[in-house]
Amino acid sequence: MSESRTAIITGGSQGIGKAIALDLASRGVRVVVASLNPGKAEATALEIREKSPESIGVQADVSNAESVNAMVDLVFERFGRVDYLVNNAGITRDTLLMRMEDEAWKAVLETNLTGTYLCSKAVVRLMVKQKFGRIVNISSVVGVMGNAGQTNYAASKAGIIGFSKSLAREVASRGITVNAVAPGFIQTAMTDVLPEKVRENLTSMIPAGRLGTPEDVAAAVRFLLSDSASYITGQVIHVNGGMYM
Ligand SMILES: NC(=O)c1ccc[n+]([C@@H]2O[C@H](COP(=O)([O-])OP(=O)(O)OC[C@H]3O[C@@H](n4cnc5c(N)ncnc54)[C@H](OP(=O)(O)O)[C@@H]3O)[C@@H](O)[C@H]2O)c1
Repeated sequence: MSESRTAIITGGSQGIGKAIALDLASRGVRVVVASLNPGKAEATALEIREKSPESIGVQADVSNAESVNAMVDLVFERFGRVDYLVNNAGITRDTLLMRMEDEAWKAVLETNLTGTYLCSKAVVRLMVKQKFGRIVNISSVVGVMGNAGQTNYAASKAGIIGFSKSLAREVASRGITVNAVAPGFIQTAMTDVLPEKVRENLTSMIPAGRLGTPEDVAAAVRFLLSDSASYITGQVIHVNGGMYM
């Protein structure tokens, strides 16, 4: 992990994204916290600047091409390069398919999958020019196993895996790697909403006997971004306490 590098973390304001942002900042990486709520992005960036003073918070809606392009232009003007992109922004709108509103399908696909497409497209040209880049896309165990009540979310997360493998093949010869990290159940705002009974059931399915922490995911992301992982591309790294093997 080199100190002169610049990372964009979408959804970096809280949860897994924030843990990734803090982890990289503590290794001297300049971090751009890109998330929907400008106040939250800046509040997290303020915390991160204690570790990496040039880090910034930027408002961006990953589902909107104009917003993504403006964010990447701003980062390029400020830092002159983008070395790492972590496509982490994600939402859920859980319900059974029979009850699902089209809006819930579209919102989840647009944020999770189209967001990954738009952000990757906006940075990959810069990375090709630099002859260096690392993209890590946050998928989910649900994208591999499926989960009742999450057809929209599972489709978006499975889509991210196919997207990552295809882009990895397109840019491997340019010094760019593209990988996915598939977390299991991690303790964040996204899982805090689950009823206690559901959490107990989930925990019983995890051989490690506990939910994961955002830092468990950040450690895998850090490795994939590091120079040690330059020969790893198109892979899915599972961080799930053994829930899926
Ligand atoms: N938690 C888990 O158990 C788990 C398991 C597997 C995979 N994941 C995946 O890991 C990622 C992070 O999850 P988390 O649990 O940390 O989620 P979280 O706490 O709910 O945080 C979600 C983040 O995404 C941002 N965001 C949402 N919509 C956005 C948009 N349109 N544009 C830009 N940013 C947007 C939010 O920004 P604001 O705060 O500014 O609104 C927030 O920073 C997600 O992709 C999720 O699917 C999570």
